[in-house]
Amino acid sequence: MKLANQVAIVTGAGRNIGEDTSKLLASNGAAVAVVDLDKGRADKVAADIVAAGGKAKGFVCDVGKEADIQTCVADVMAEFGRIDILVNNAAISDNKTMFDITTEEWNRVLAITLTSPFLFSREVAKTMIAAKHGGKIVNVSSTSGYYGRDRALAYTAAKGGVVNLTKSLAIQLAPHNIRVNAVVPNKIGSPVGKAEFDPTRPVLNLVGRPGVPMDLANAVLFLVSDESSFIVATALFVDGGCTALMPGNA
Ligand SMILES: NC(=O)c1ccc[n+]([C@@H]2O[C@H](COP(=O)([O-])OP(=O)(O)OC[C@H]3O[C@@H](n4cnc5c(N)ncnc54)[C@H](O)[C@@H]3O)[C@@H](O)[C@H]2O)c1
Repeated sequence: MKLANQVAIVTGAGRNIGEDTSKLLASNGAAVAVVDLDKGRADKVAADIVAAGGKAKGFVCDVGKEADIQTCVADVMAEFGRIDILVNNAAISDNKTMFDITTEEWNRVLAITLTSPFLFSREVAKTMIAAKHGGKIVNVSSTSGYYGRDRALAYTAAKGGVVNLTKSLAIQLAPHNIRVNAVVPNKIGSPVGKAEFDPTRPVLNLVGRPGVPMDLANAVLFLVSDESSFIVATALFVDGGCTALMPGNA
């Protein structure tokens, strides 16, 4: 098992990408802290993992609140004794224009989507550094972090921030043997903030279908496994090739 004896935290793990990532890390041997704002979702994913023979526990945490993050990391340490892997997956979108979005909404999107990967990484890195066993962090960005959009003003800004946050964290944590990378999804069958999966969601890419959560889970597994030990500070596009297409000339 690739991740035997390792402990992983996955945020926003109650459904879609976070759920499949939690389940895949667990089936590869990791004990998984299934972190979500929604207790029912977190507990259900953890119960599914345990029913399948894995190790997991649900943790309720609002990743937009620093105190919640500190408590959550302490609780995971108390439960599992160590943390080897962190997947910063939780995010919300605003779907607003610059004139529609309130300052409060802007701040909430930034807190959950950009500040939480920083704060969670800092809290978890402290435990990894103290234990001297290194670790792996994967941040979930988005193709929205590379392009402007007519809506989702705060989301695009936050996801762009996640890309460079990943590089700076990677540089600052490399001396501690903590590898930091990002994955960059585009149009998974269910838009951010929605539970329903629509396999017919219109997409423009080279594969001809929307992504599925497991496409991202597989990429995360690679980035936290030893097979990727020479890959640091990168952003792995898992987008069906859509960003290769020149807008207007596709
Ligand atoms: N779905 C897509 O098409 C797509 C495309 C590009 C990038 N992404 C990125 O992939 C990641 C996962 O997307 P998804 O579509 O699976 O998301 P989703 O909206 O389906 O699920 C997000 C989960 O995060 C939880 N959550 C929301 N706010 C939280 C908070 N404050 N604290 C803790 N948990 C919270 C929700 O309860 C939910 O279970 C996000 O970072 C998203 O930006 C998704």
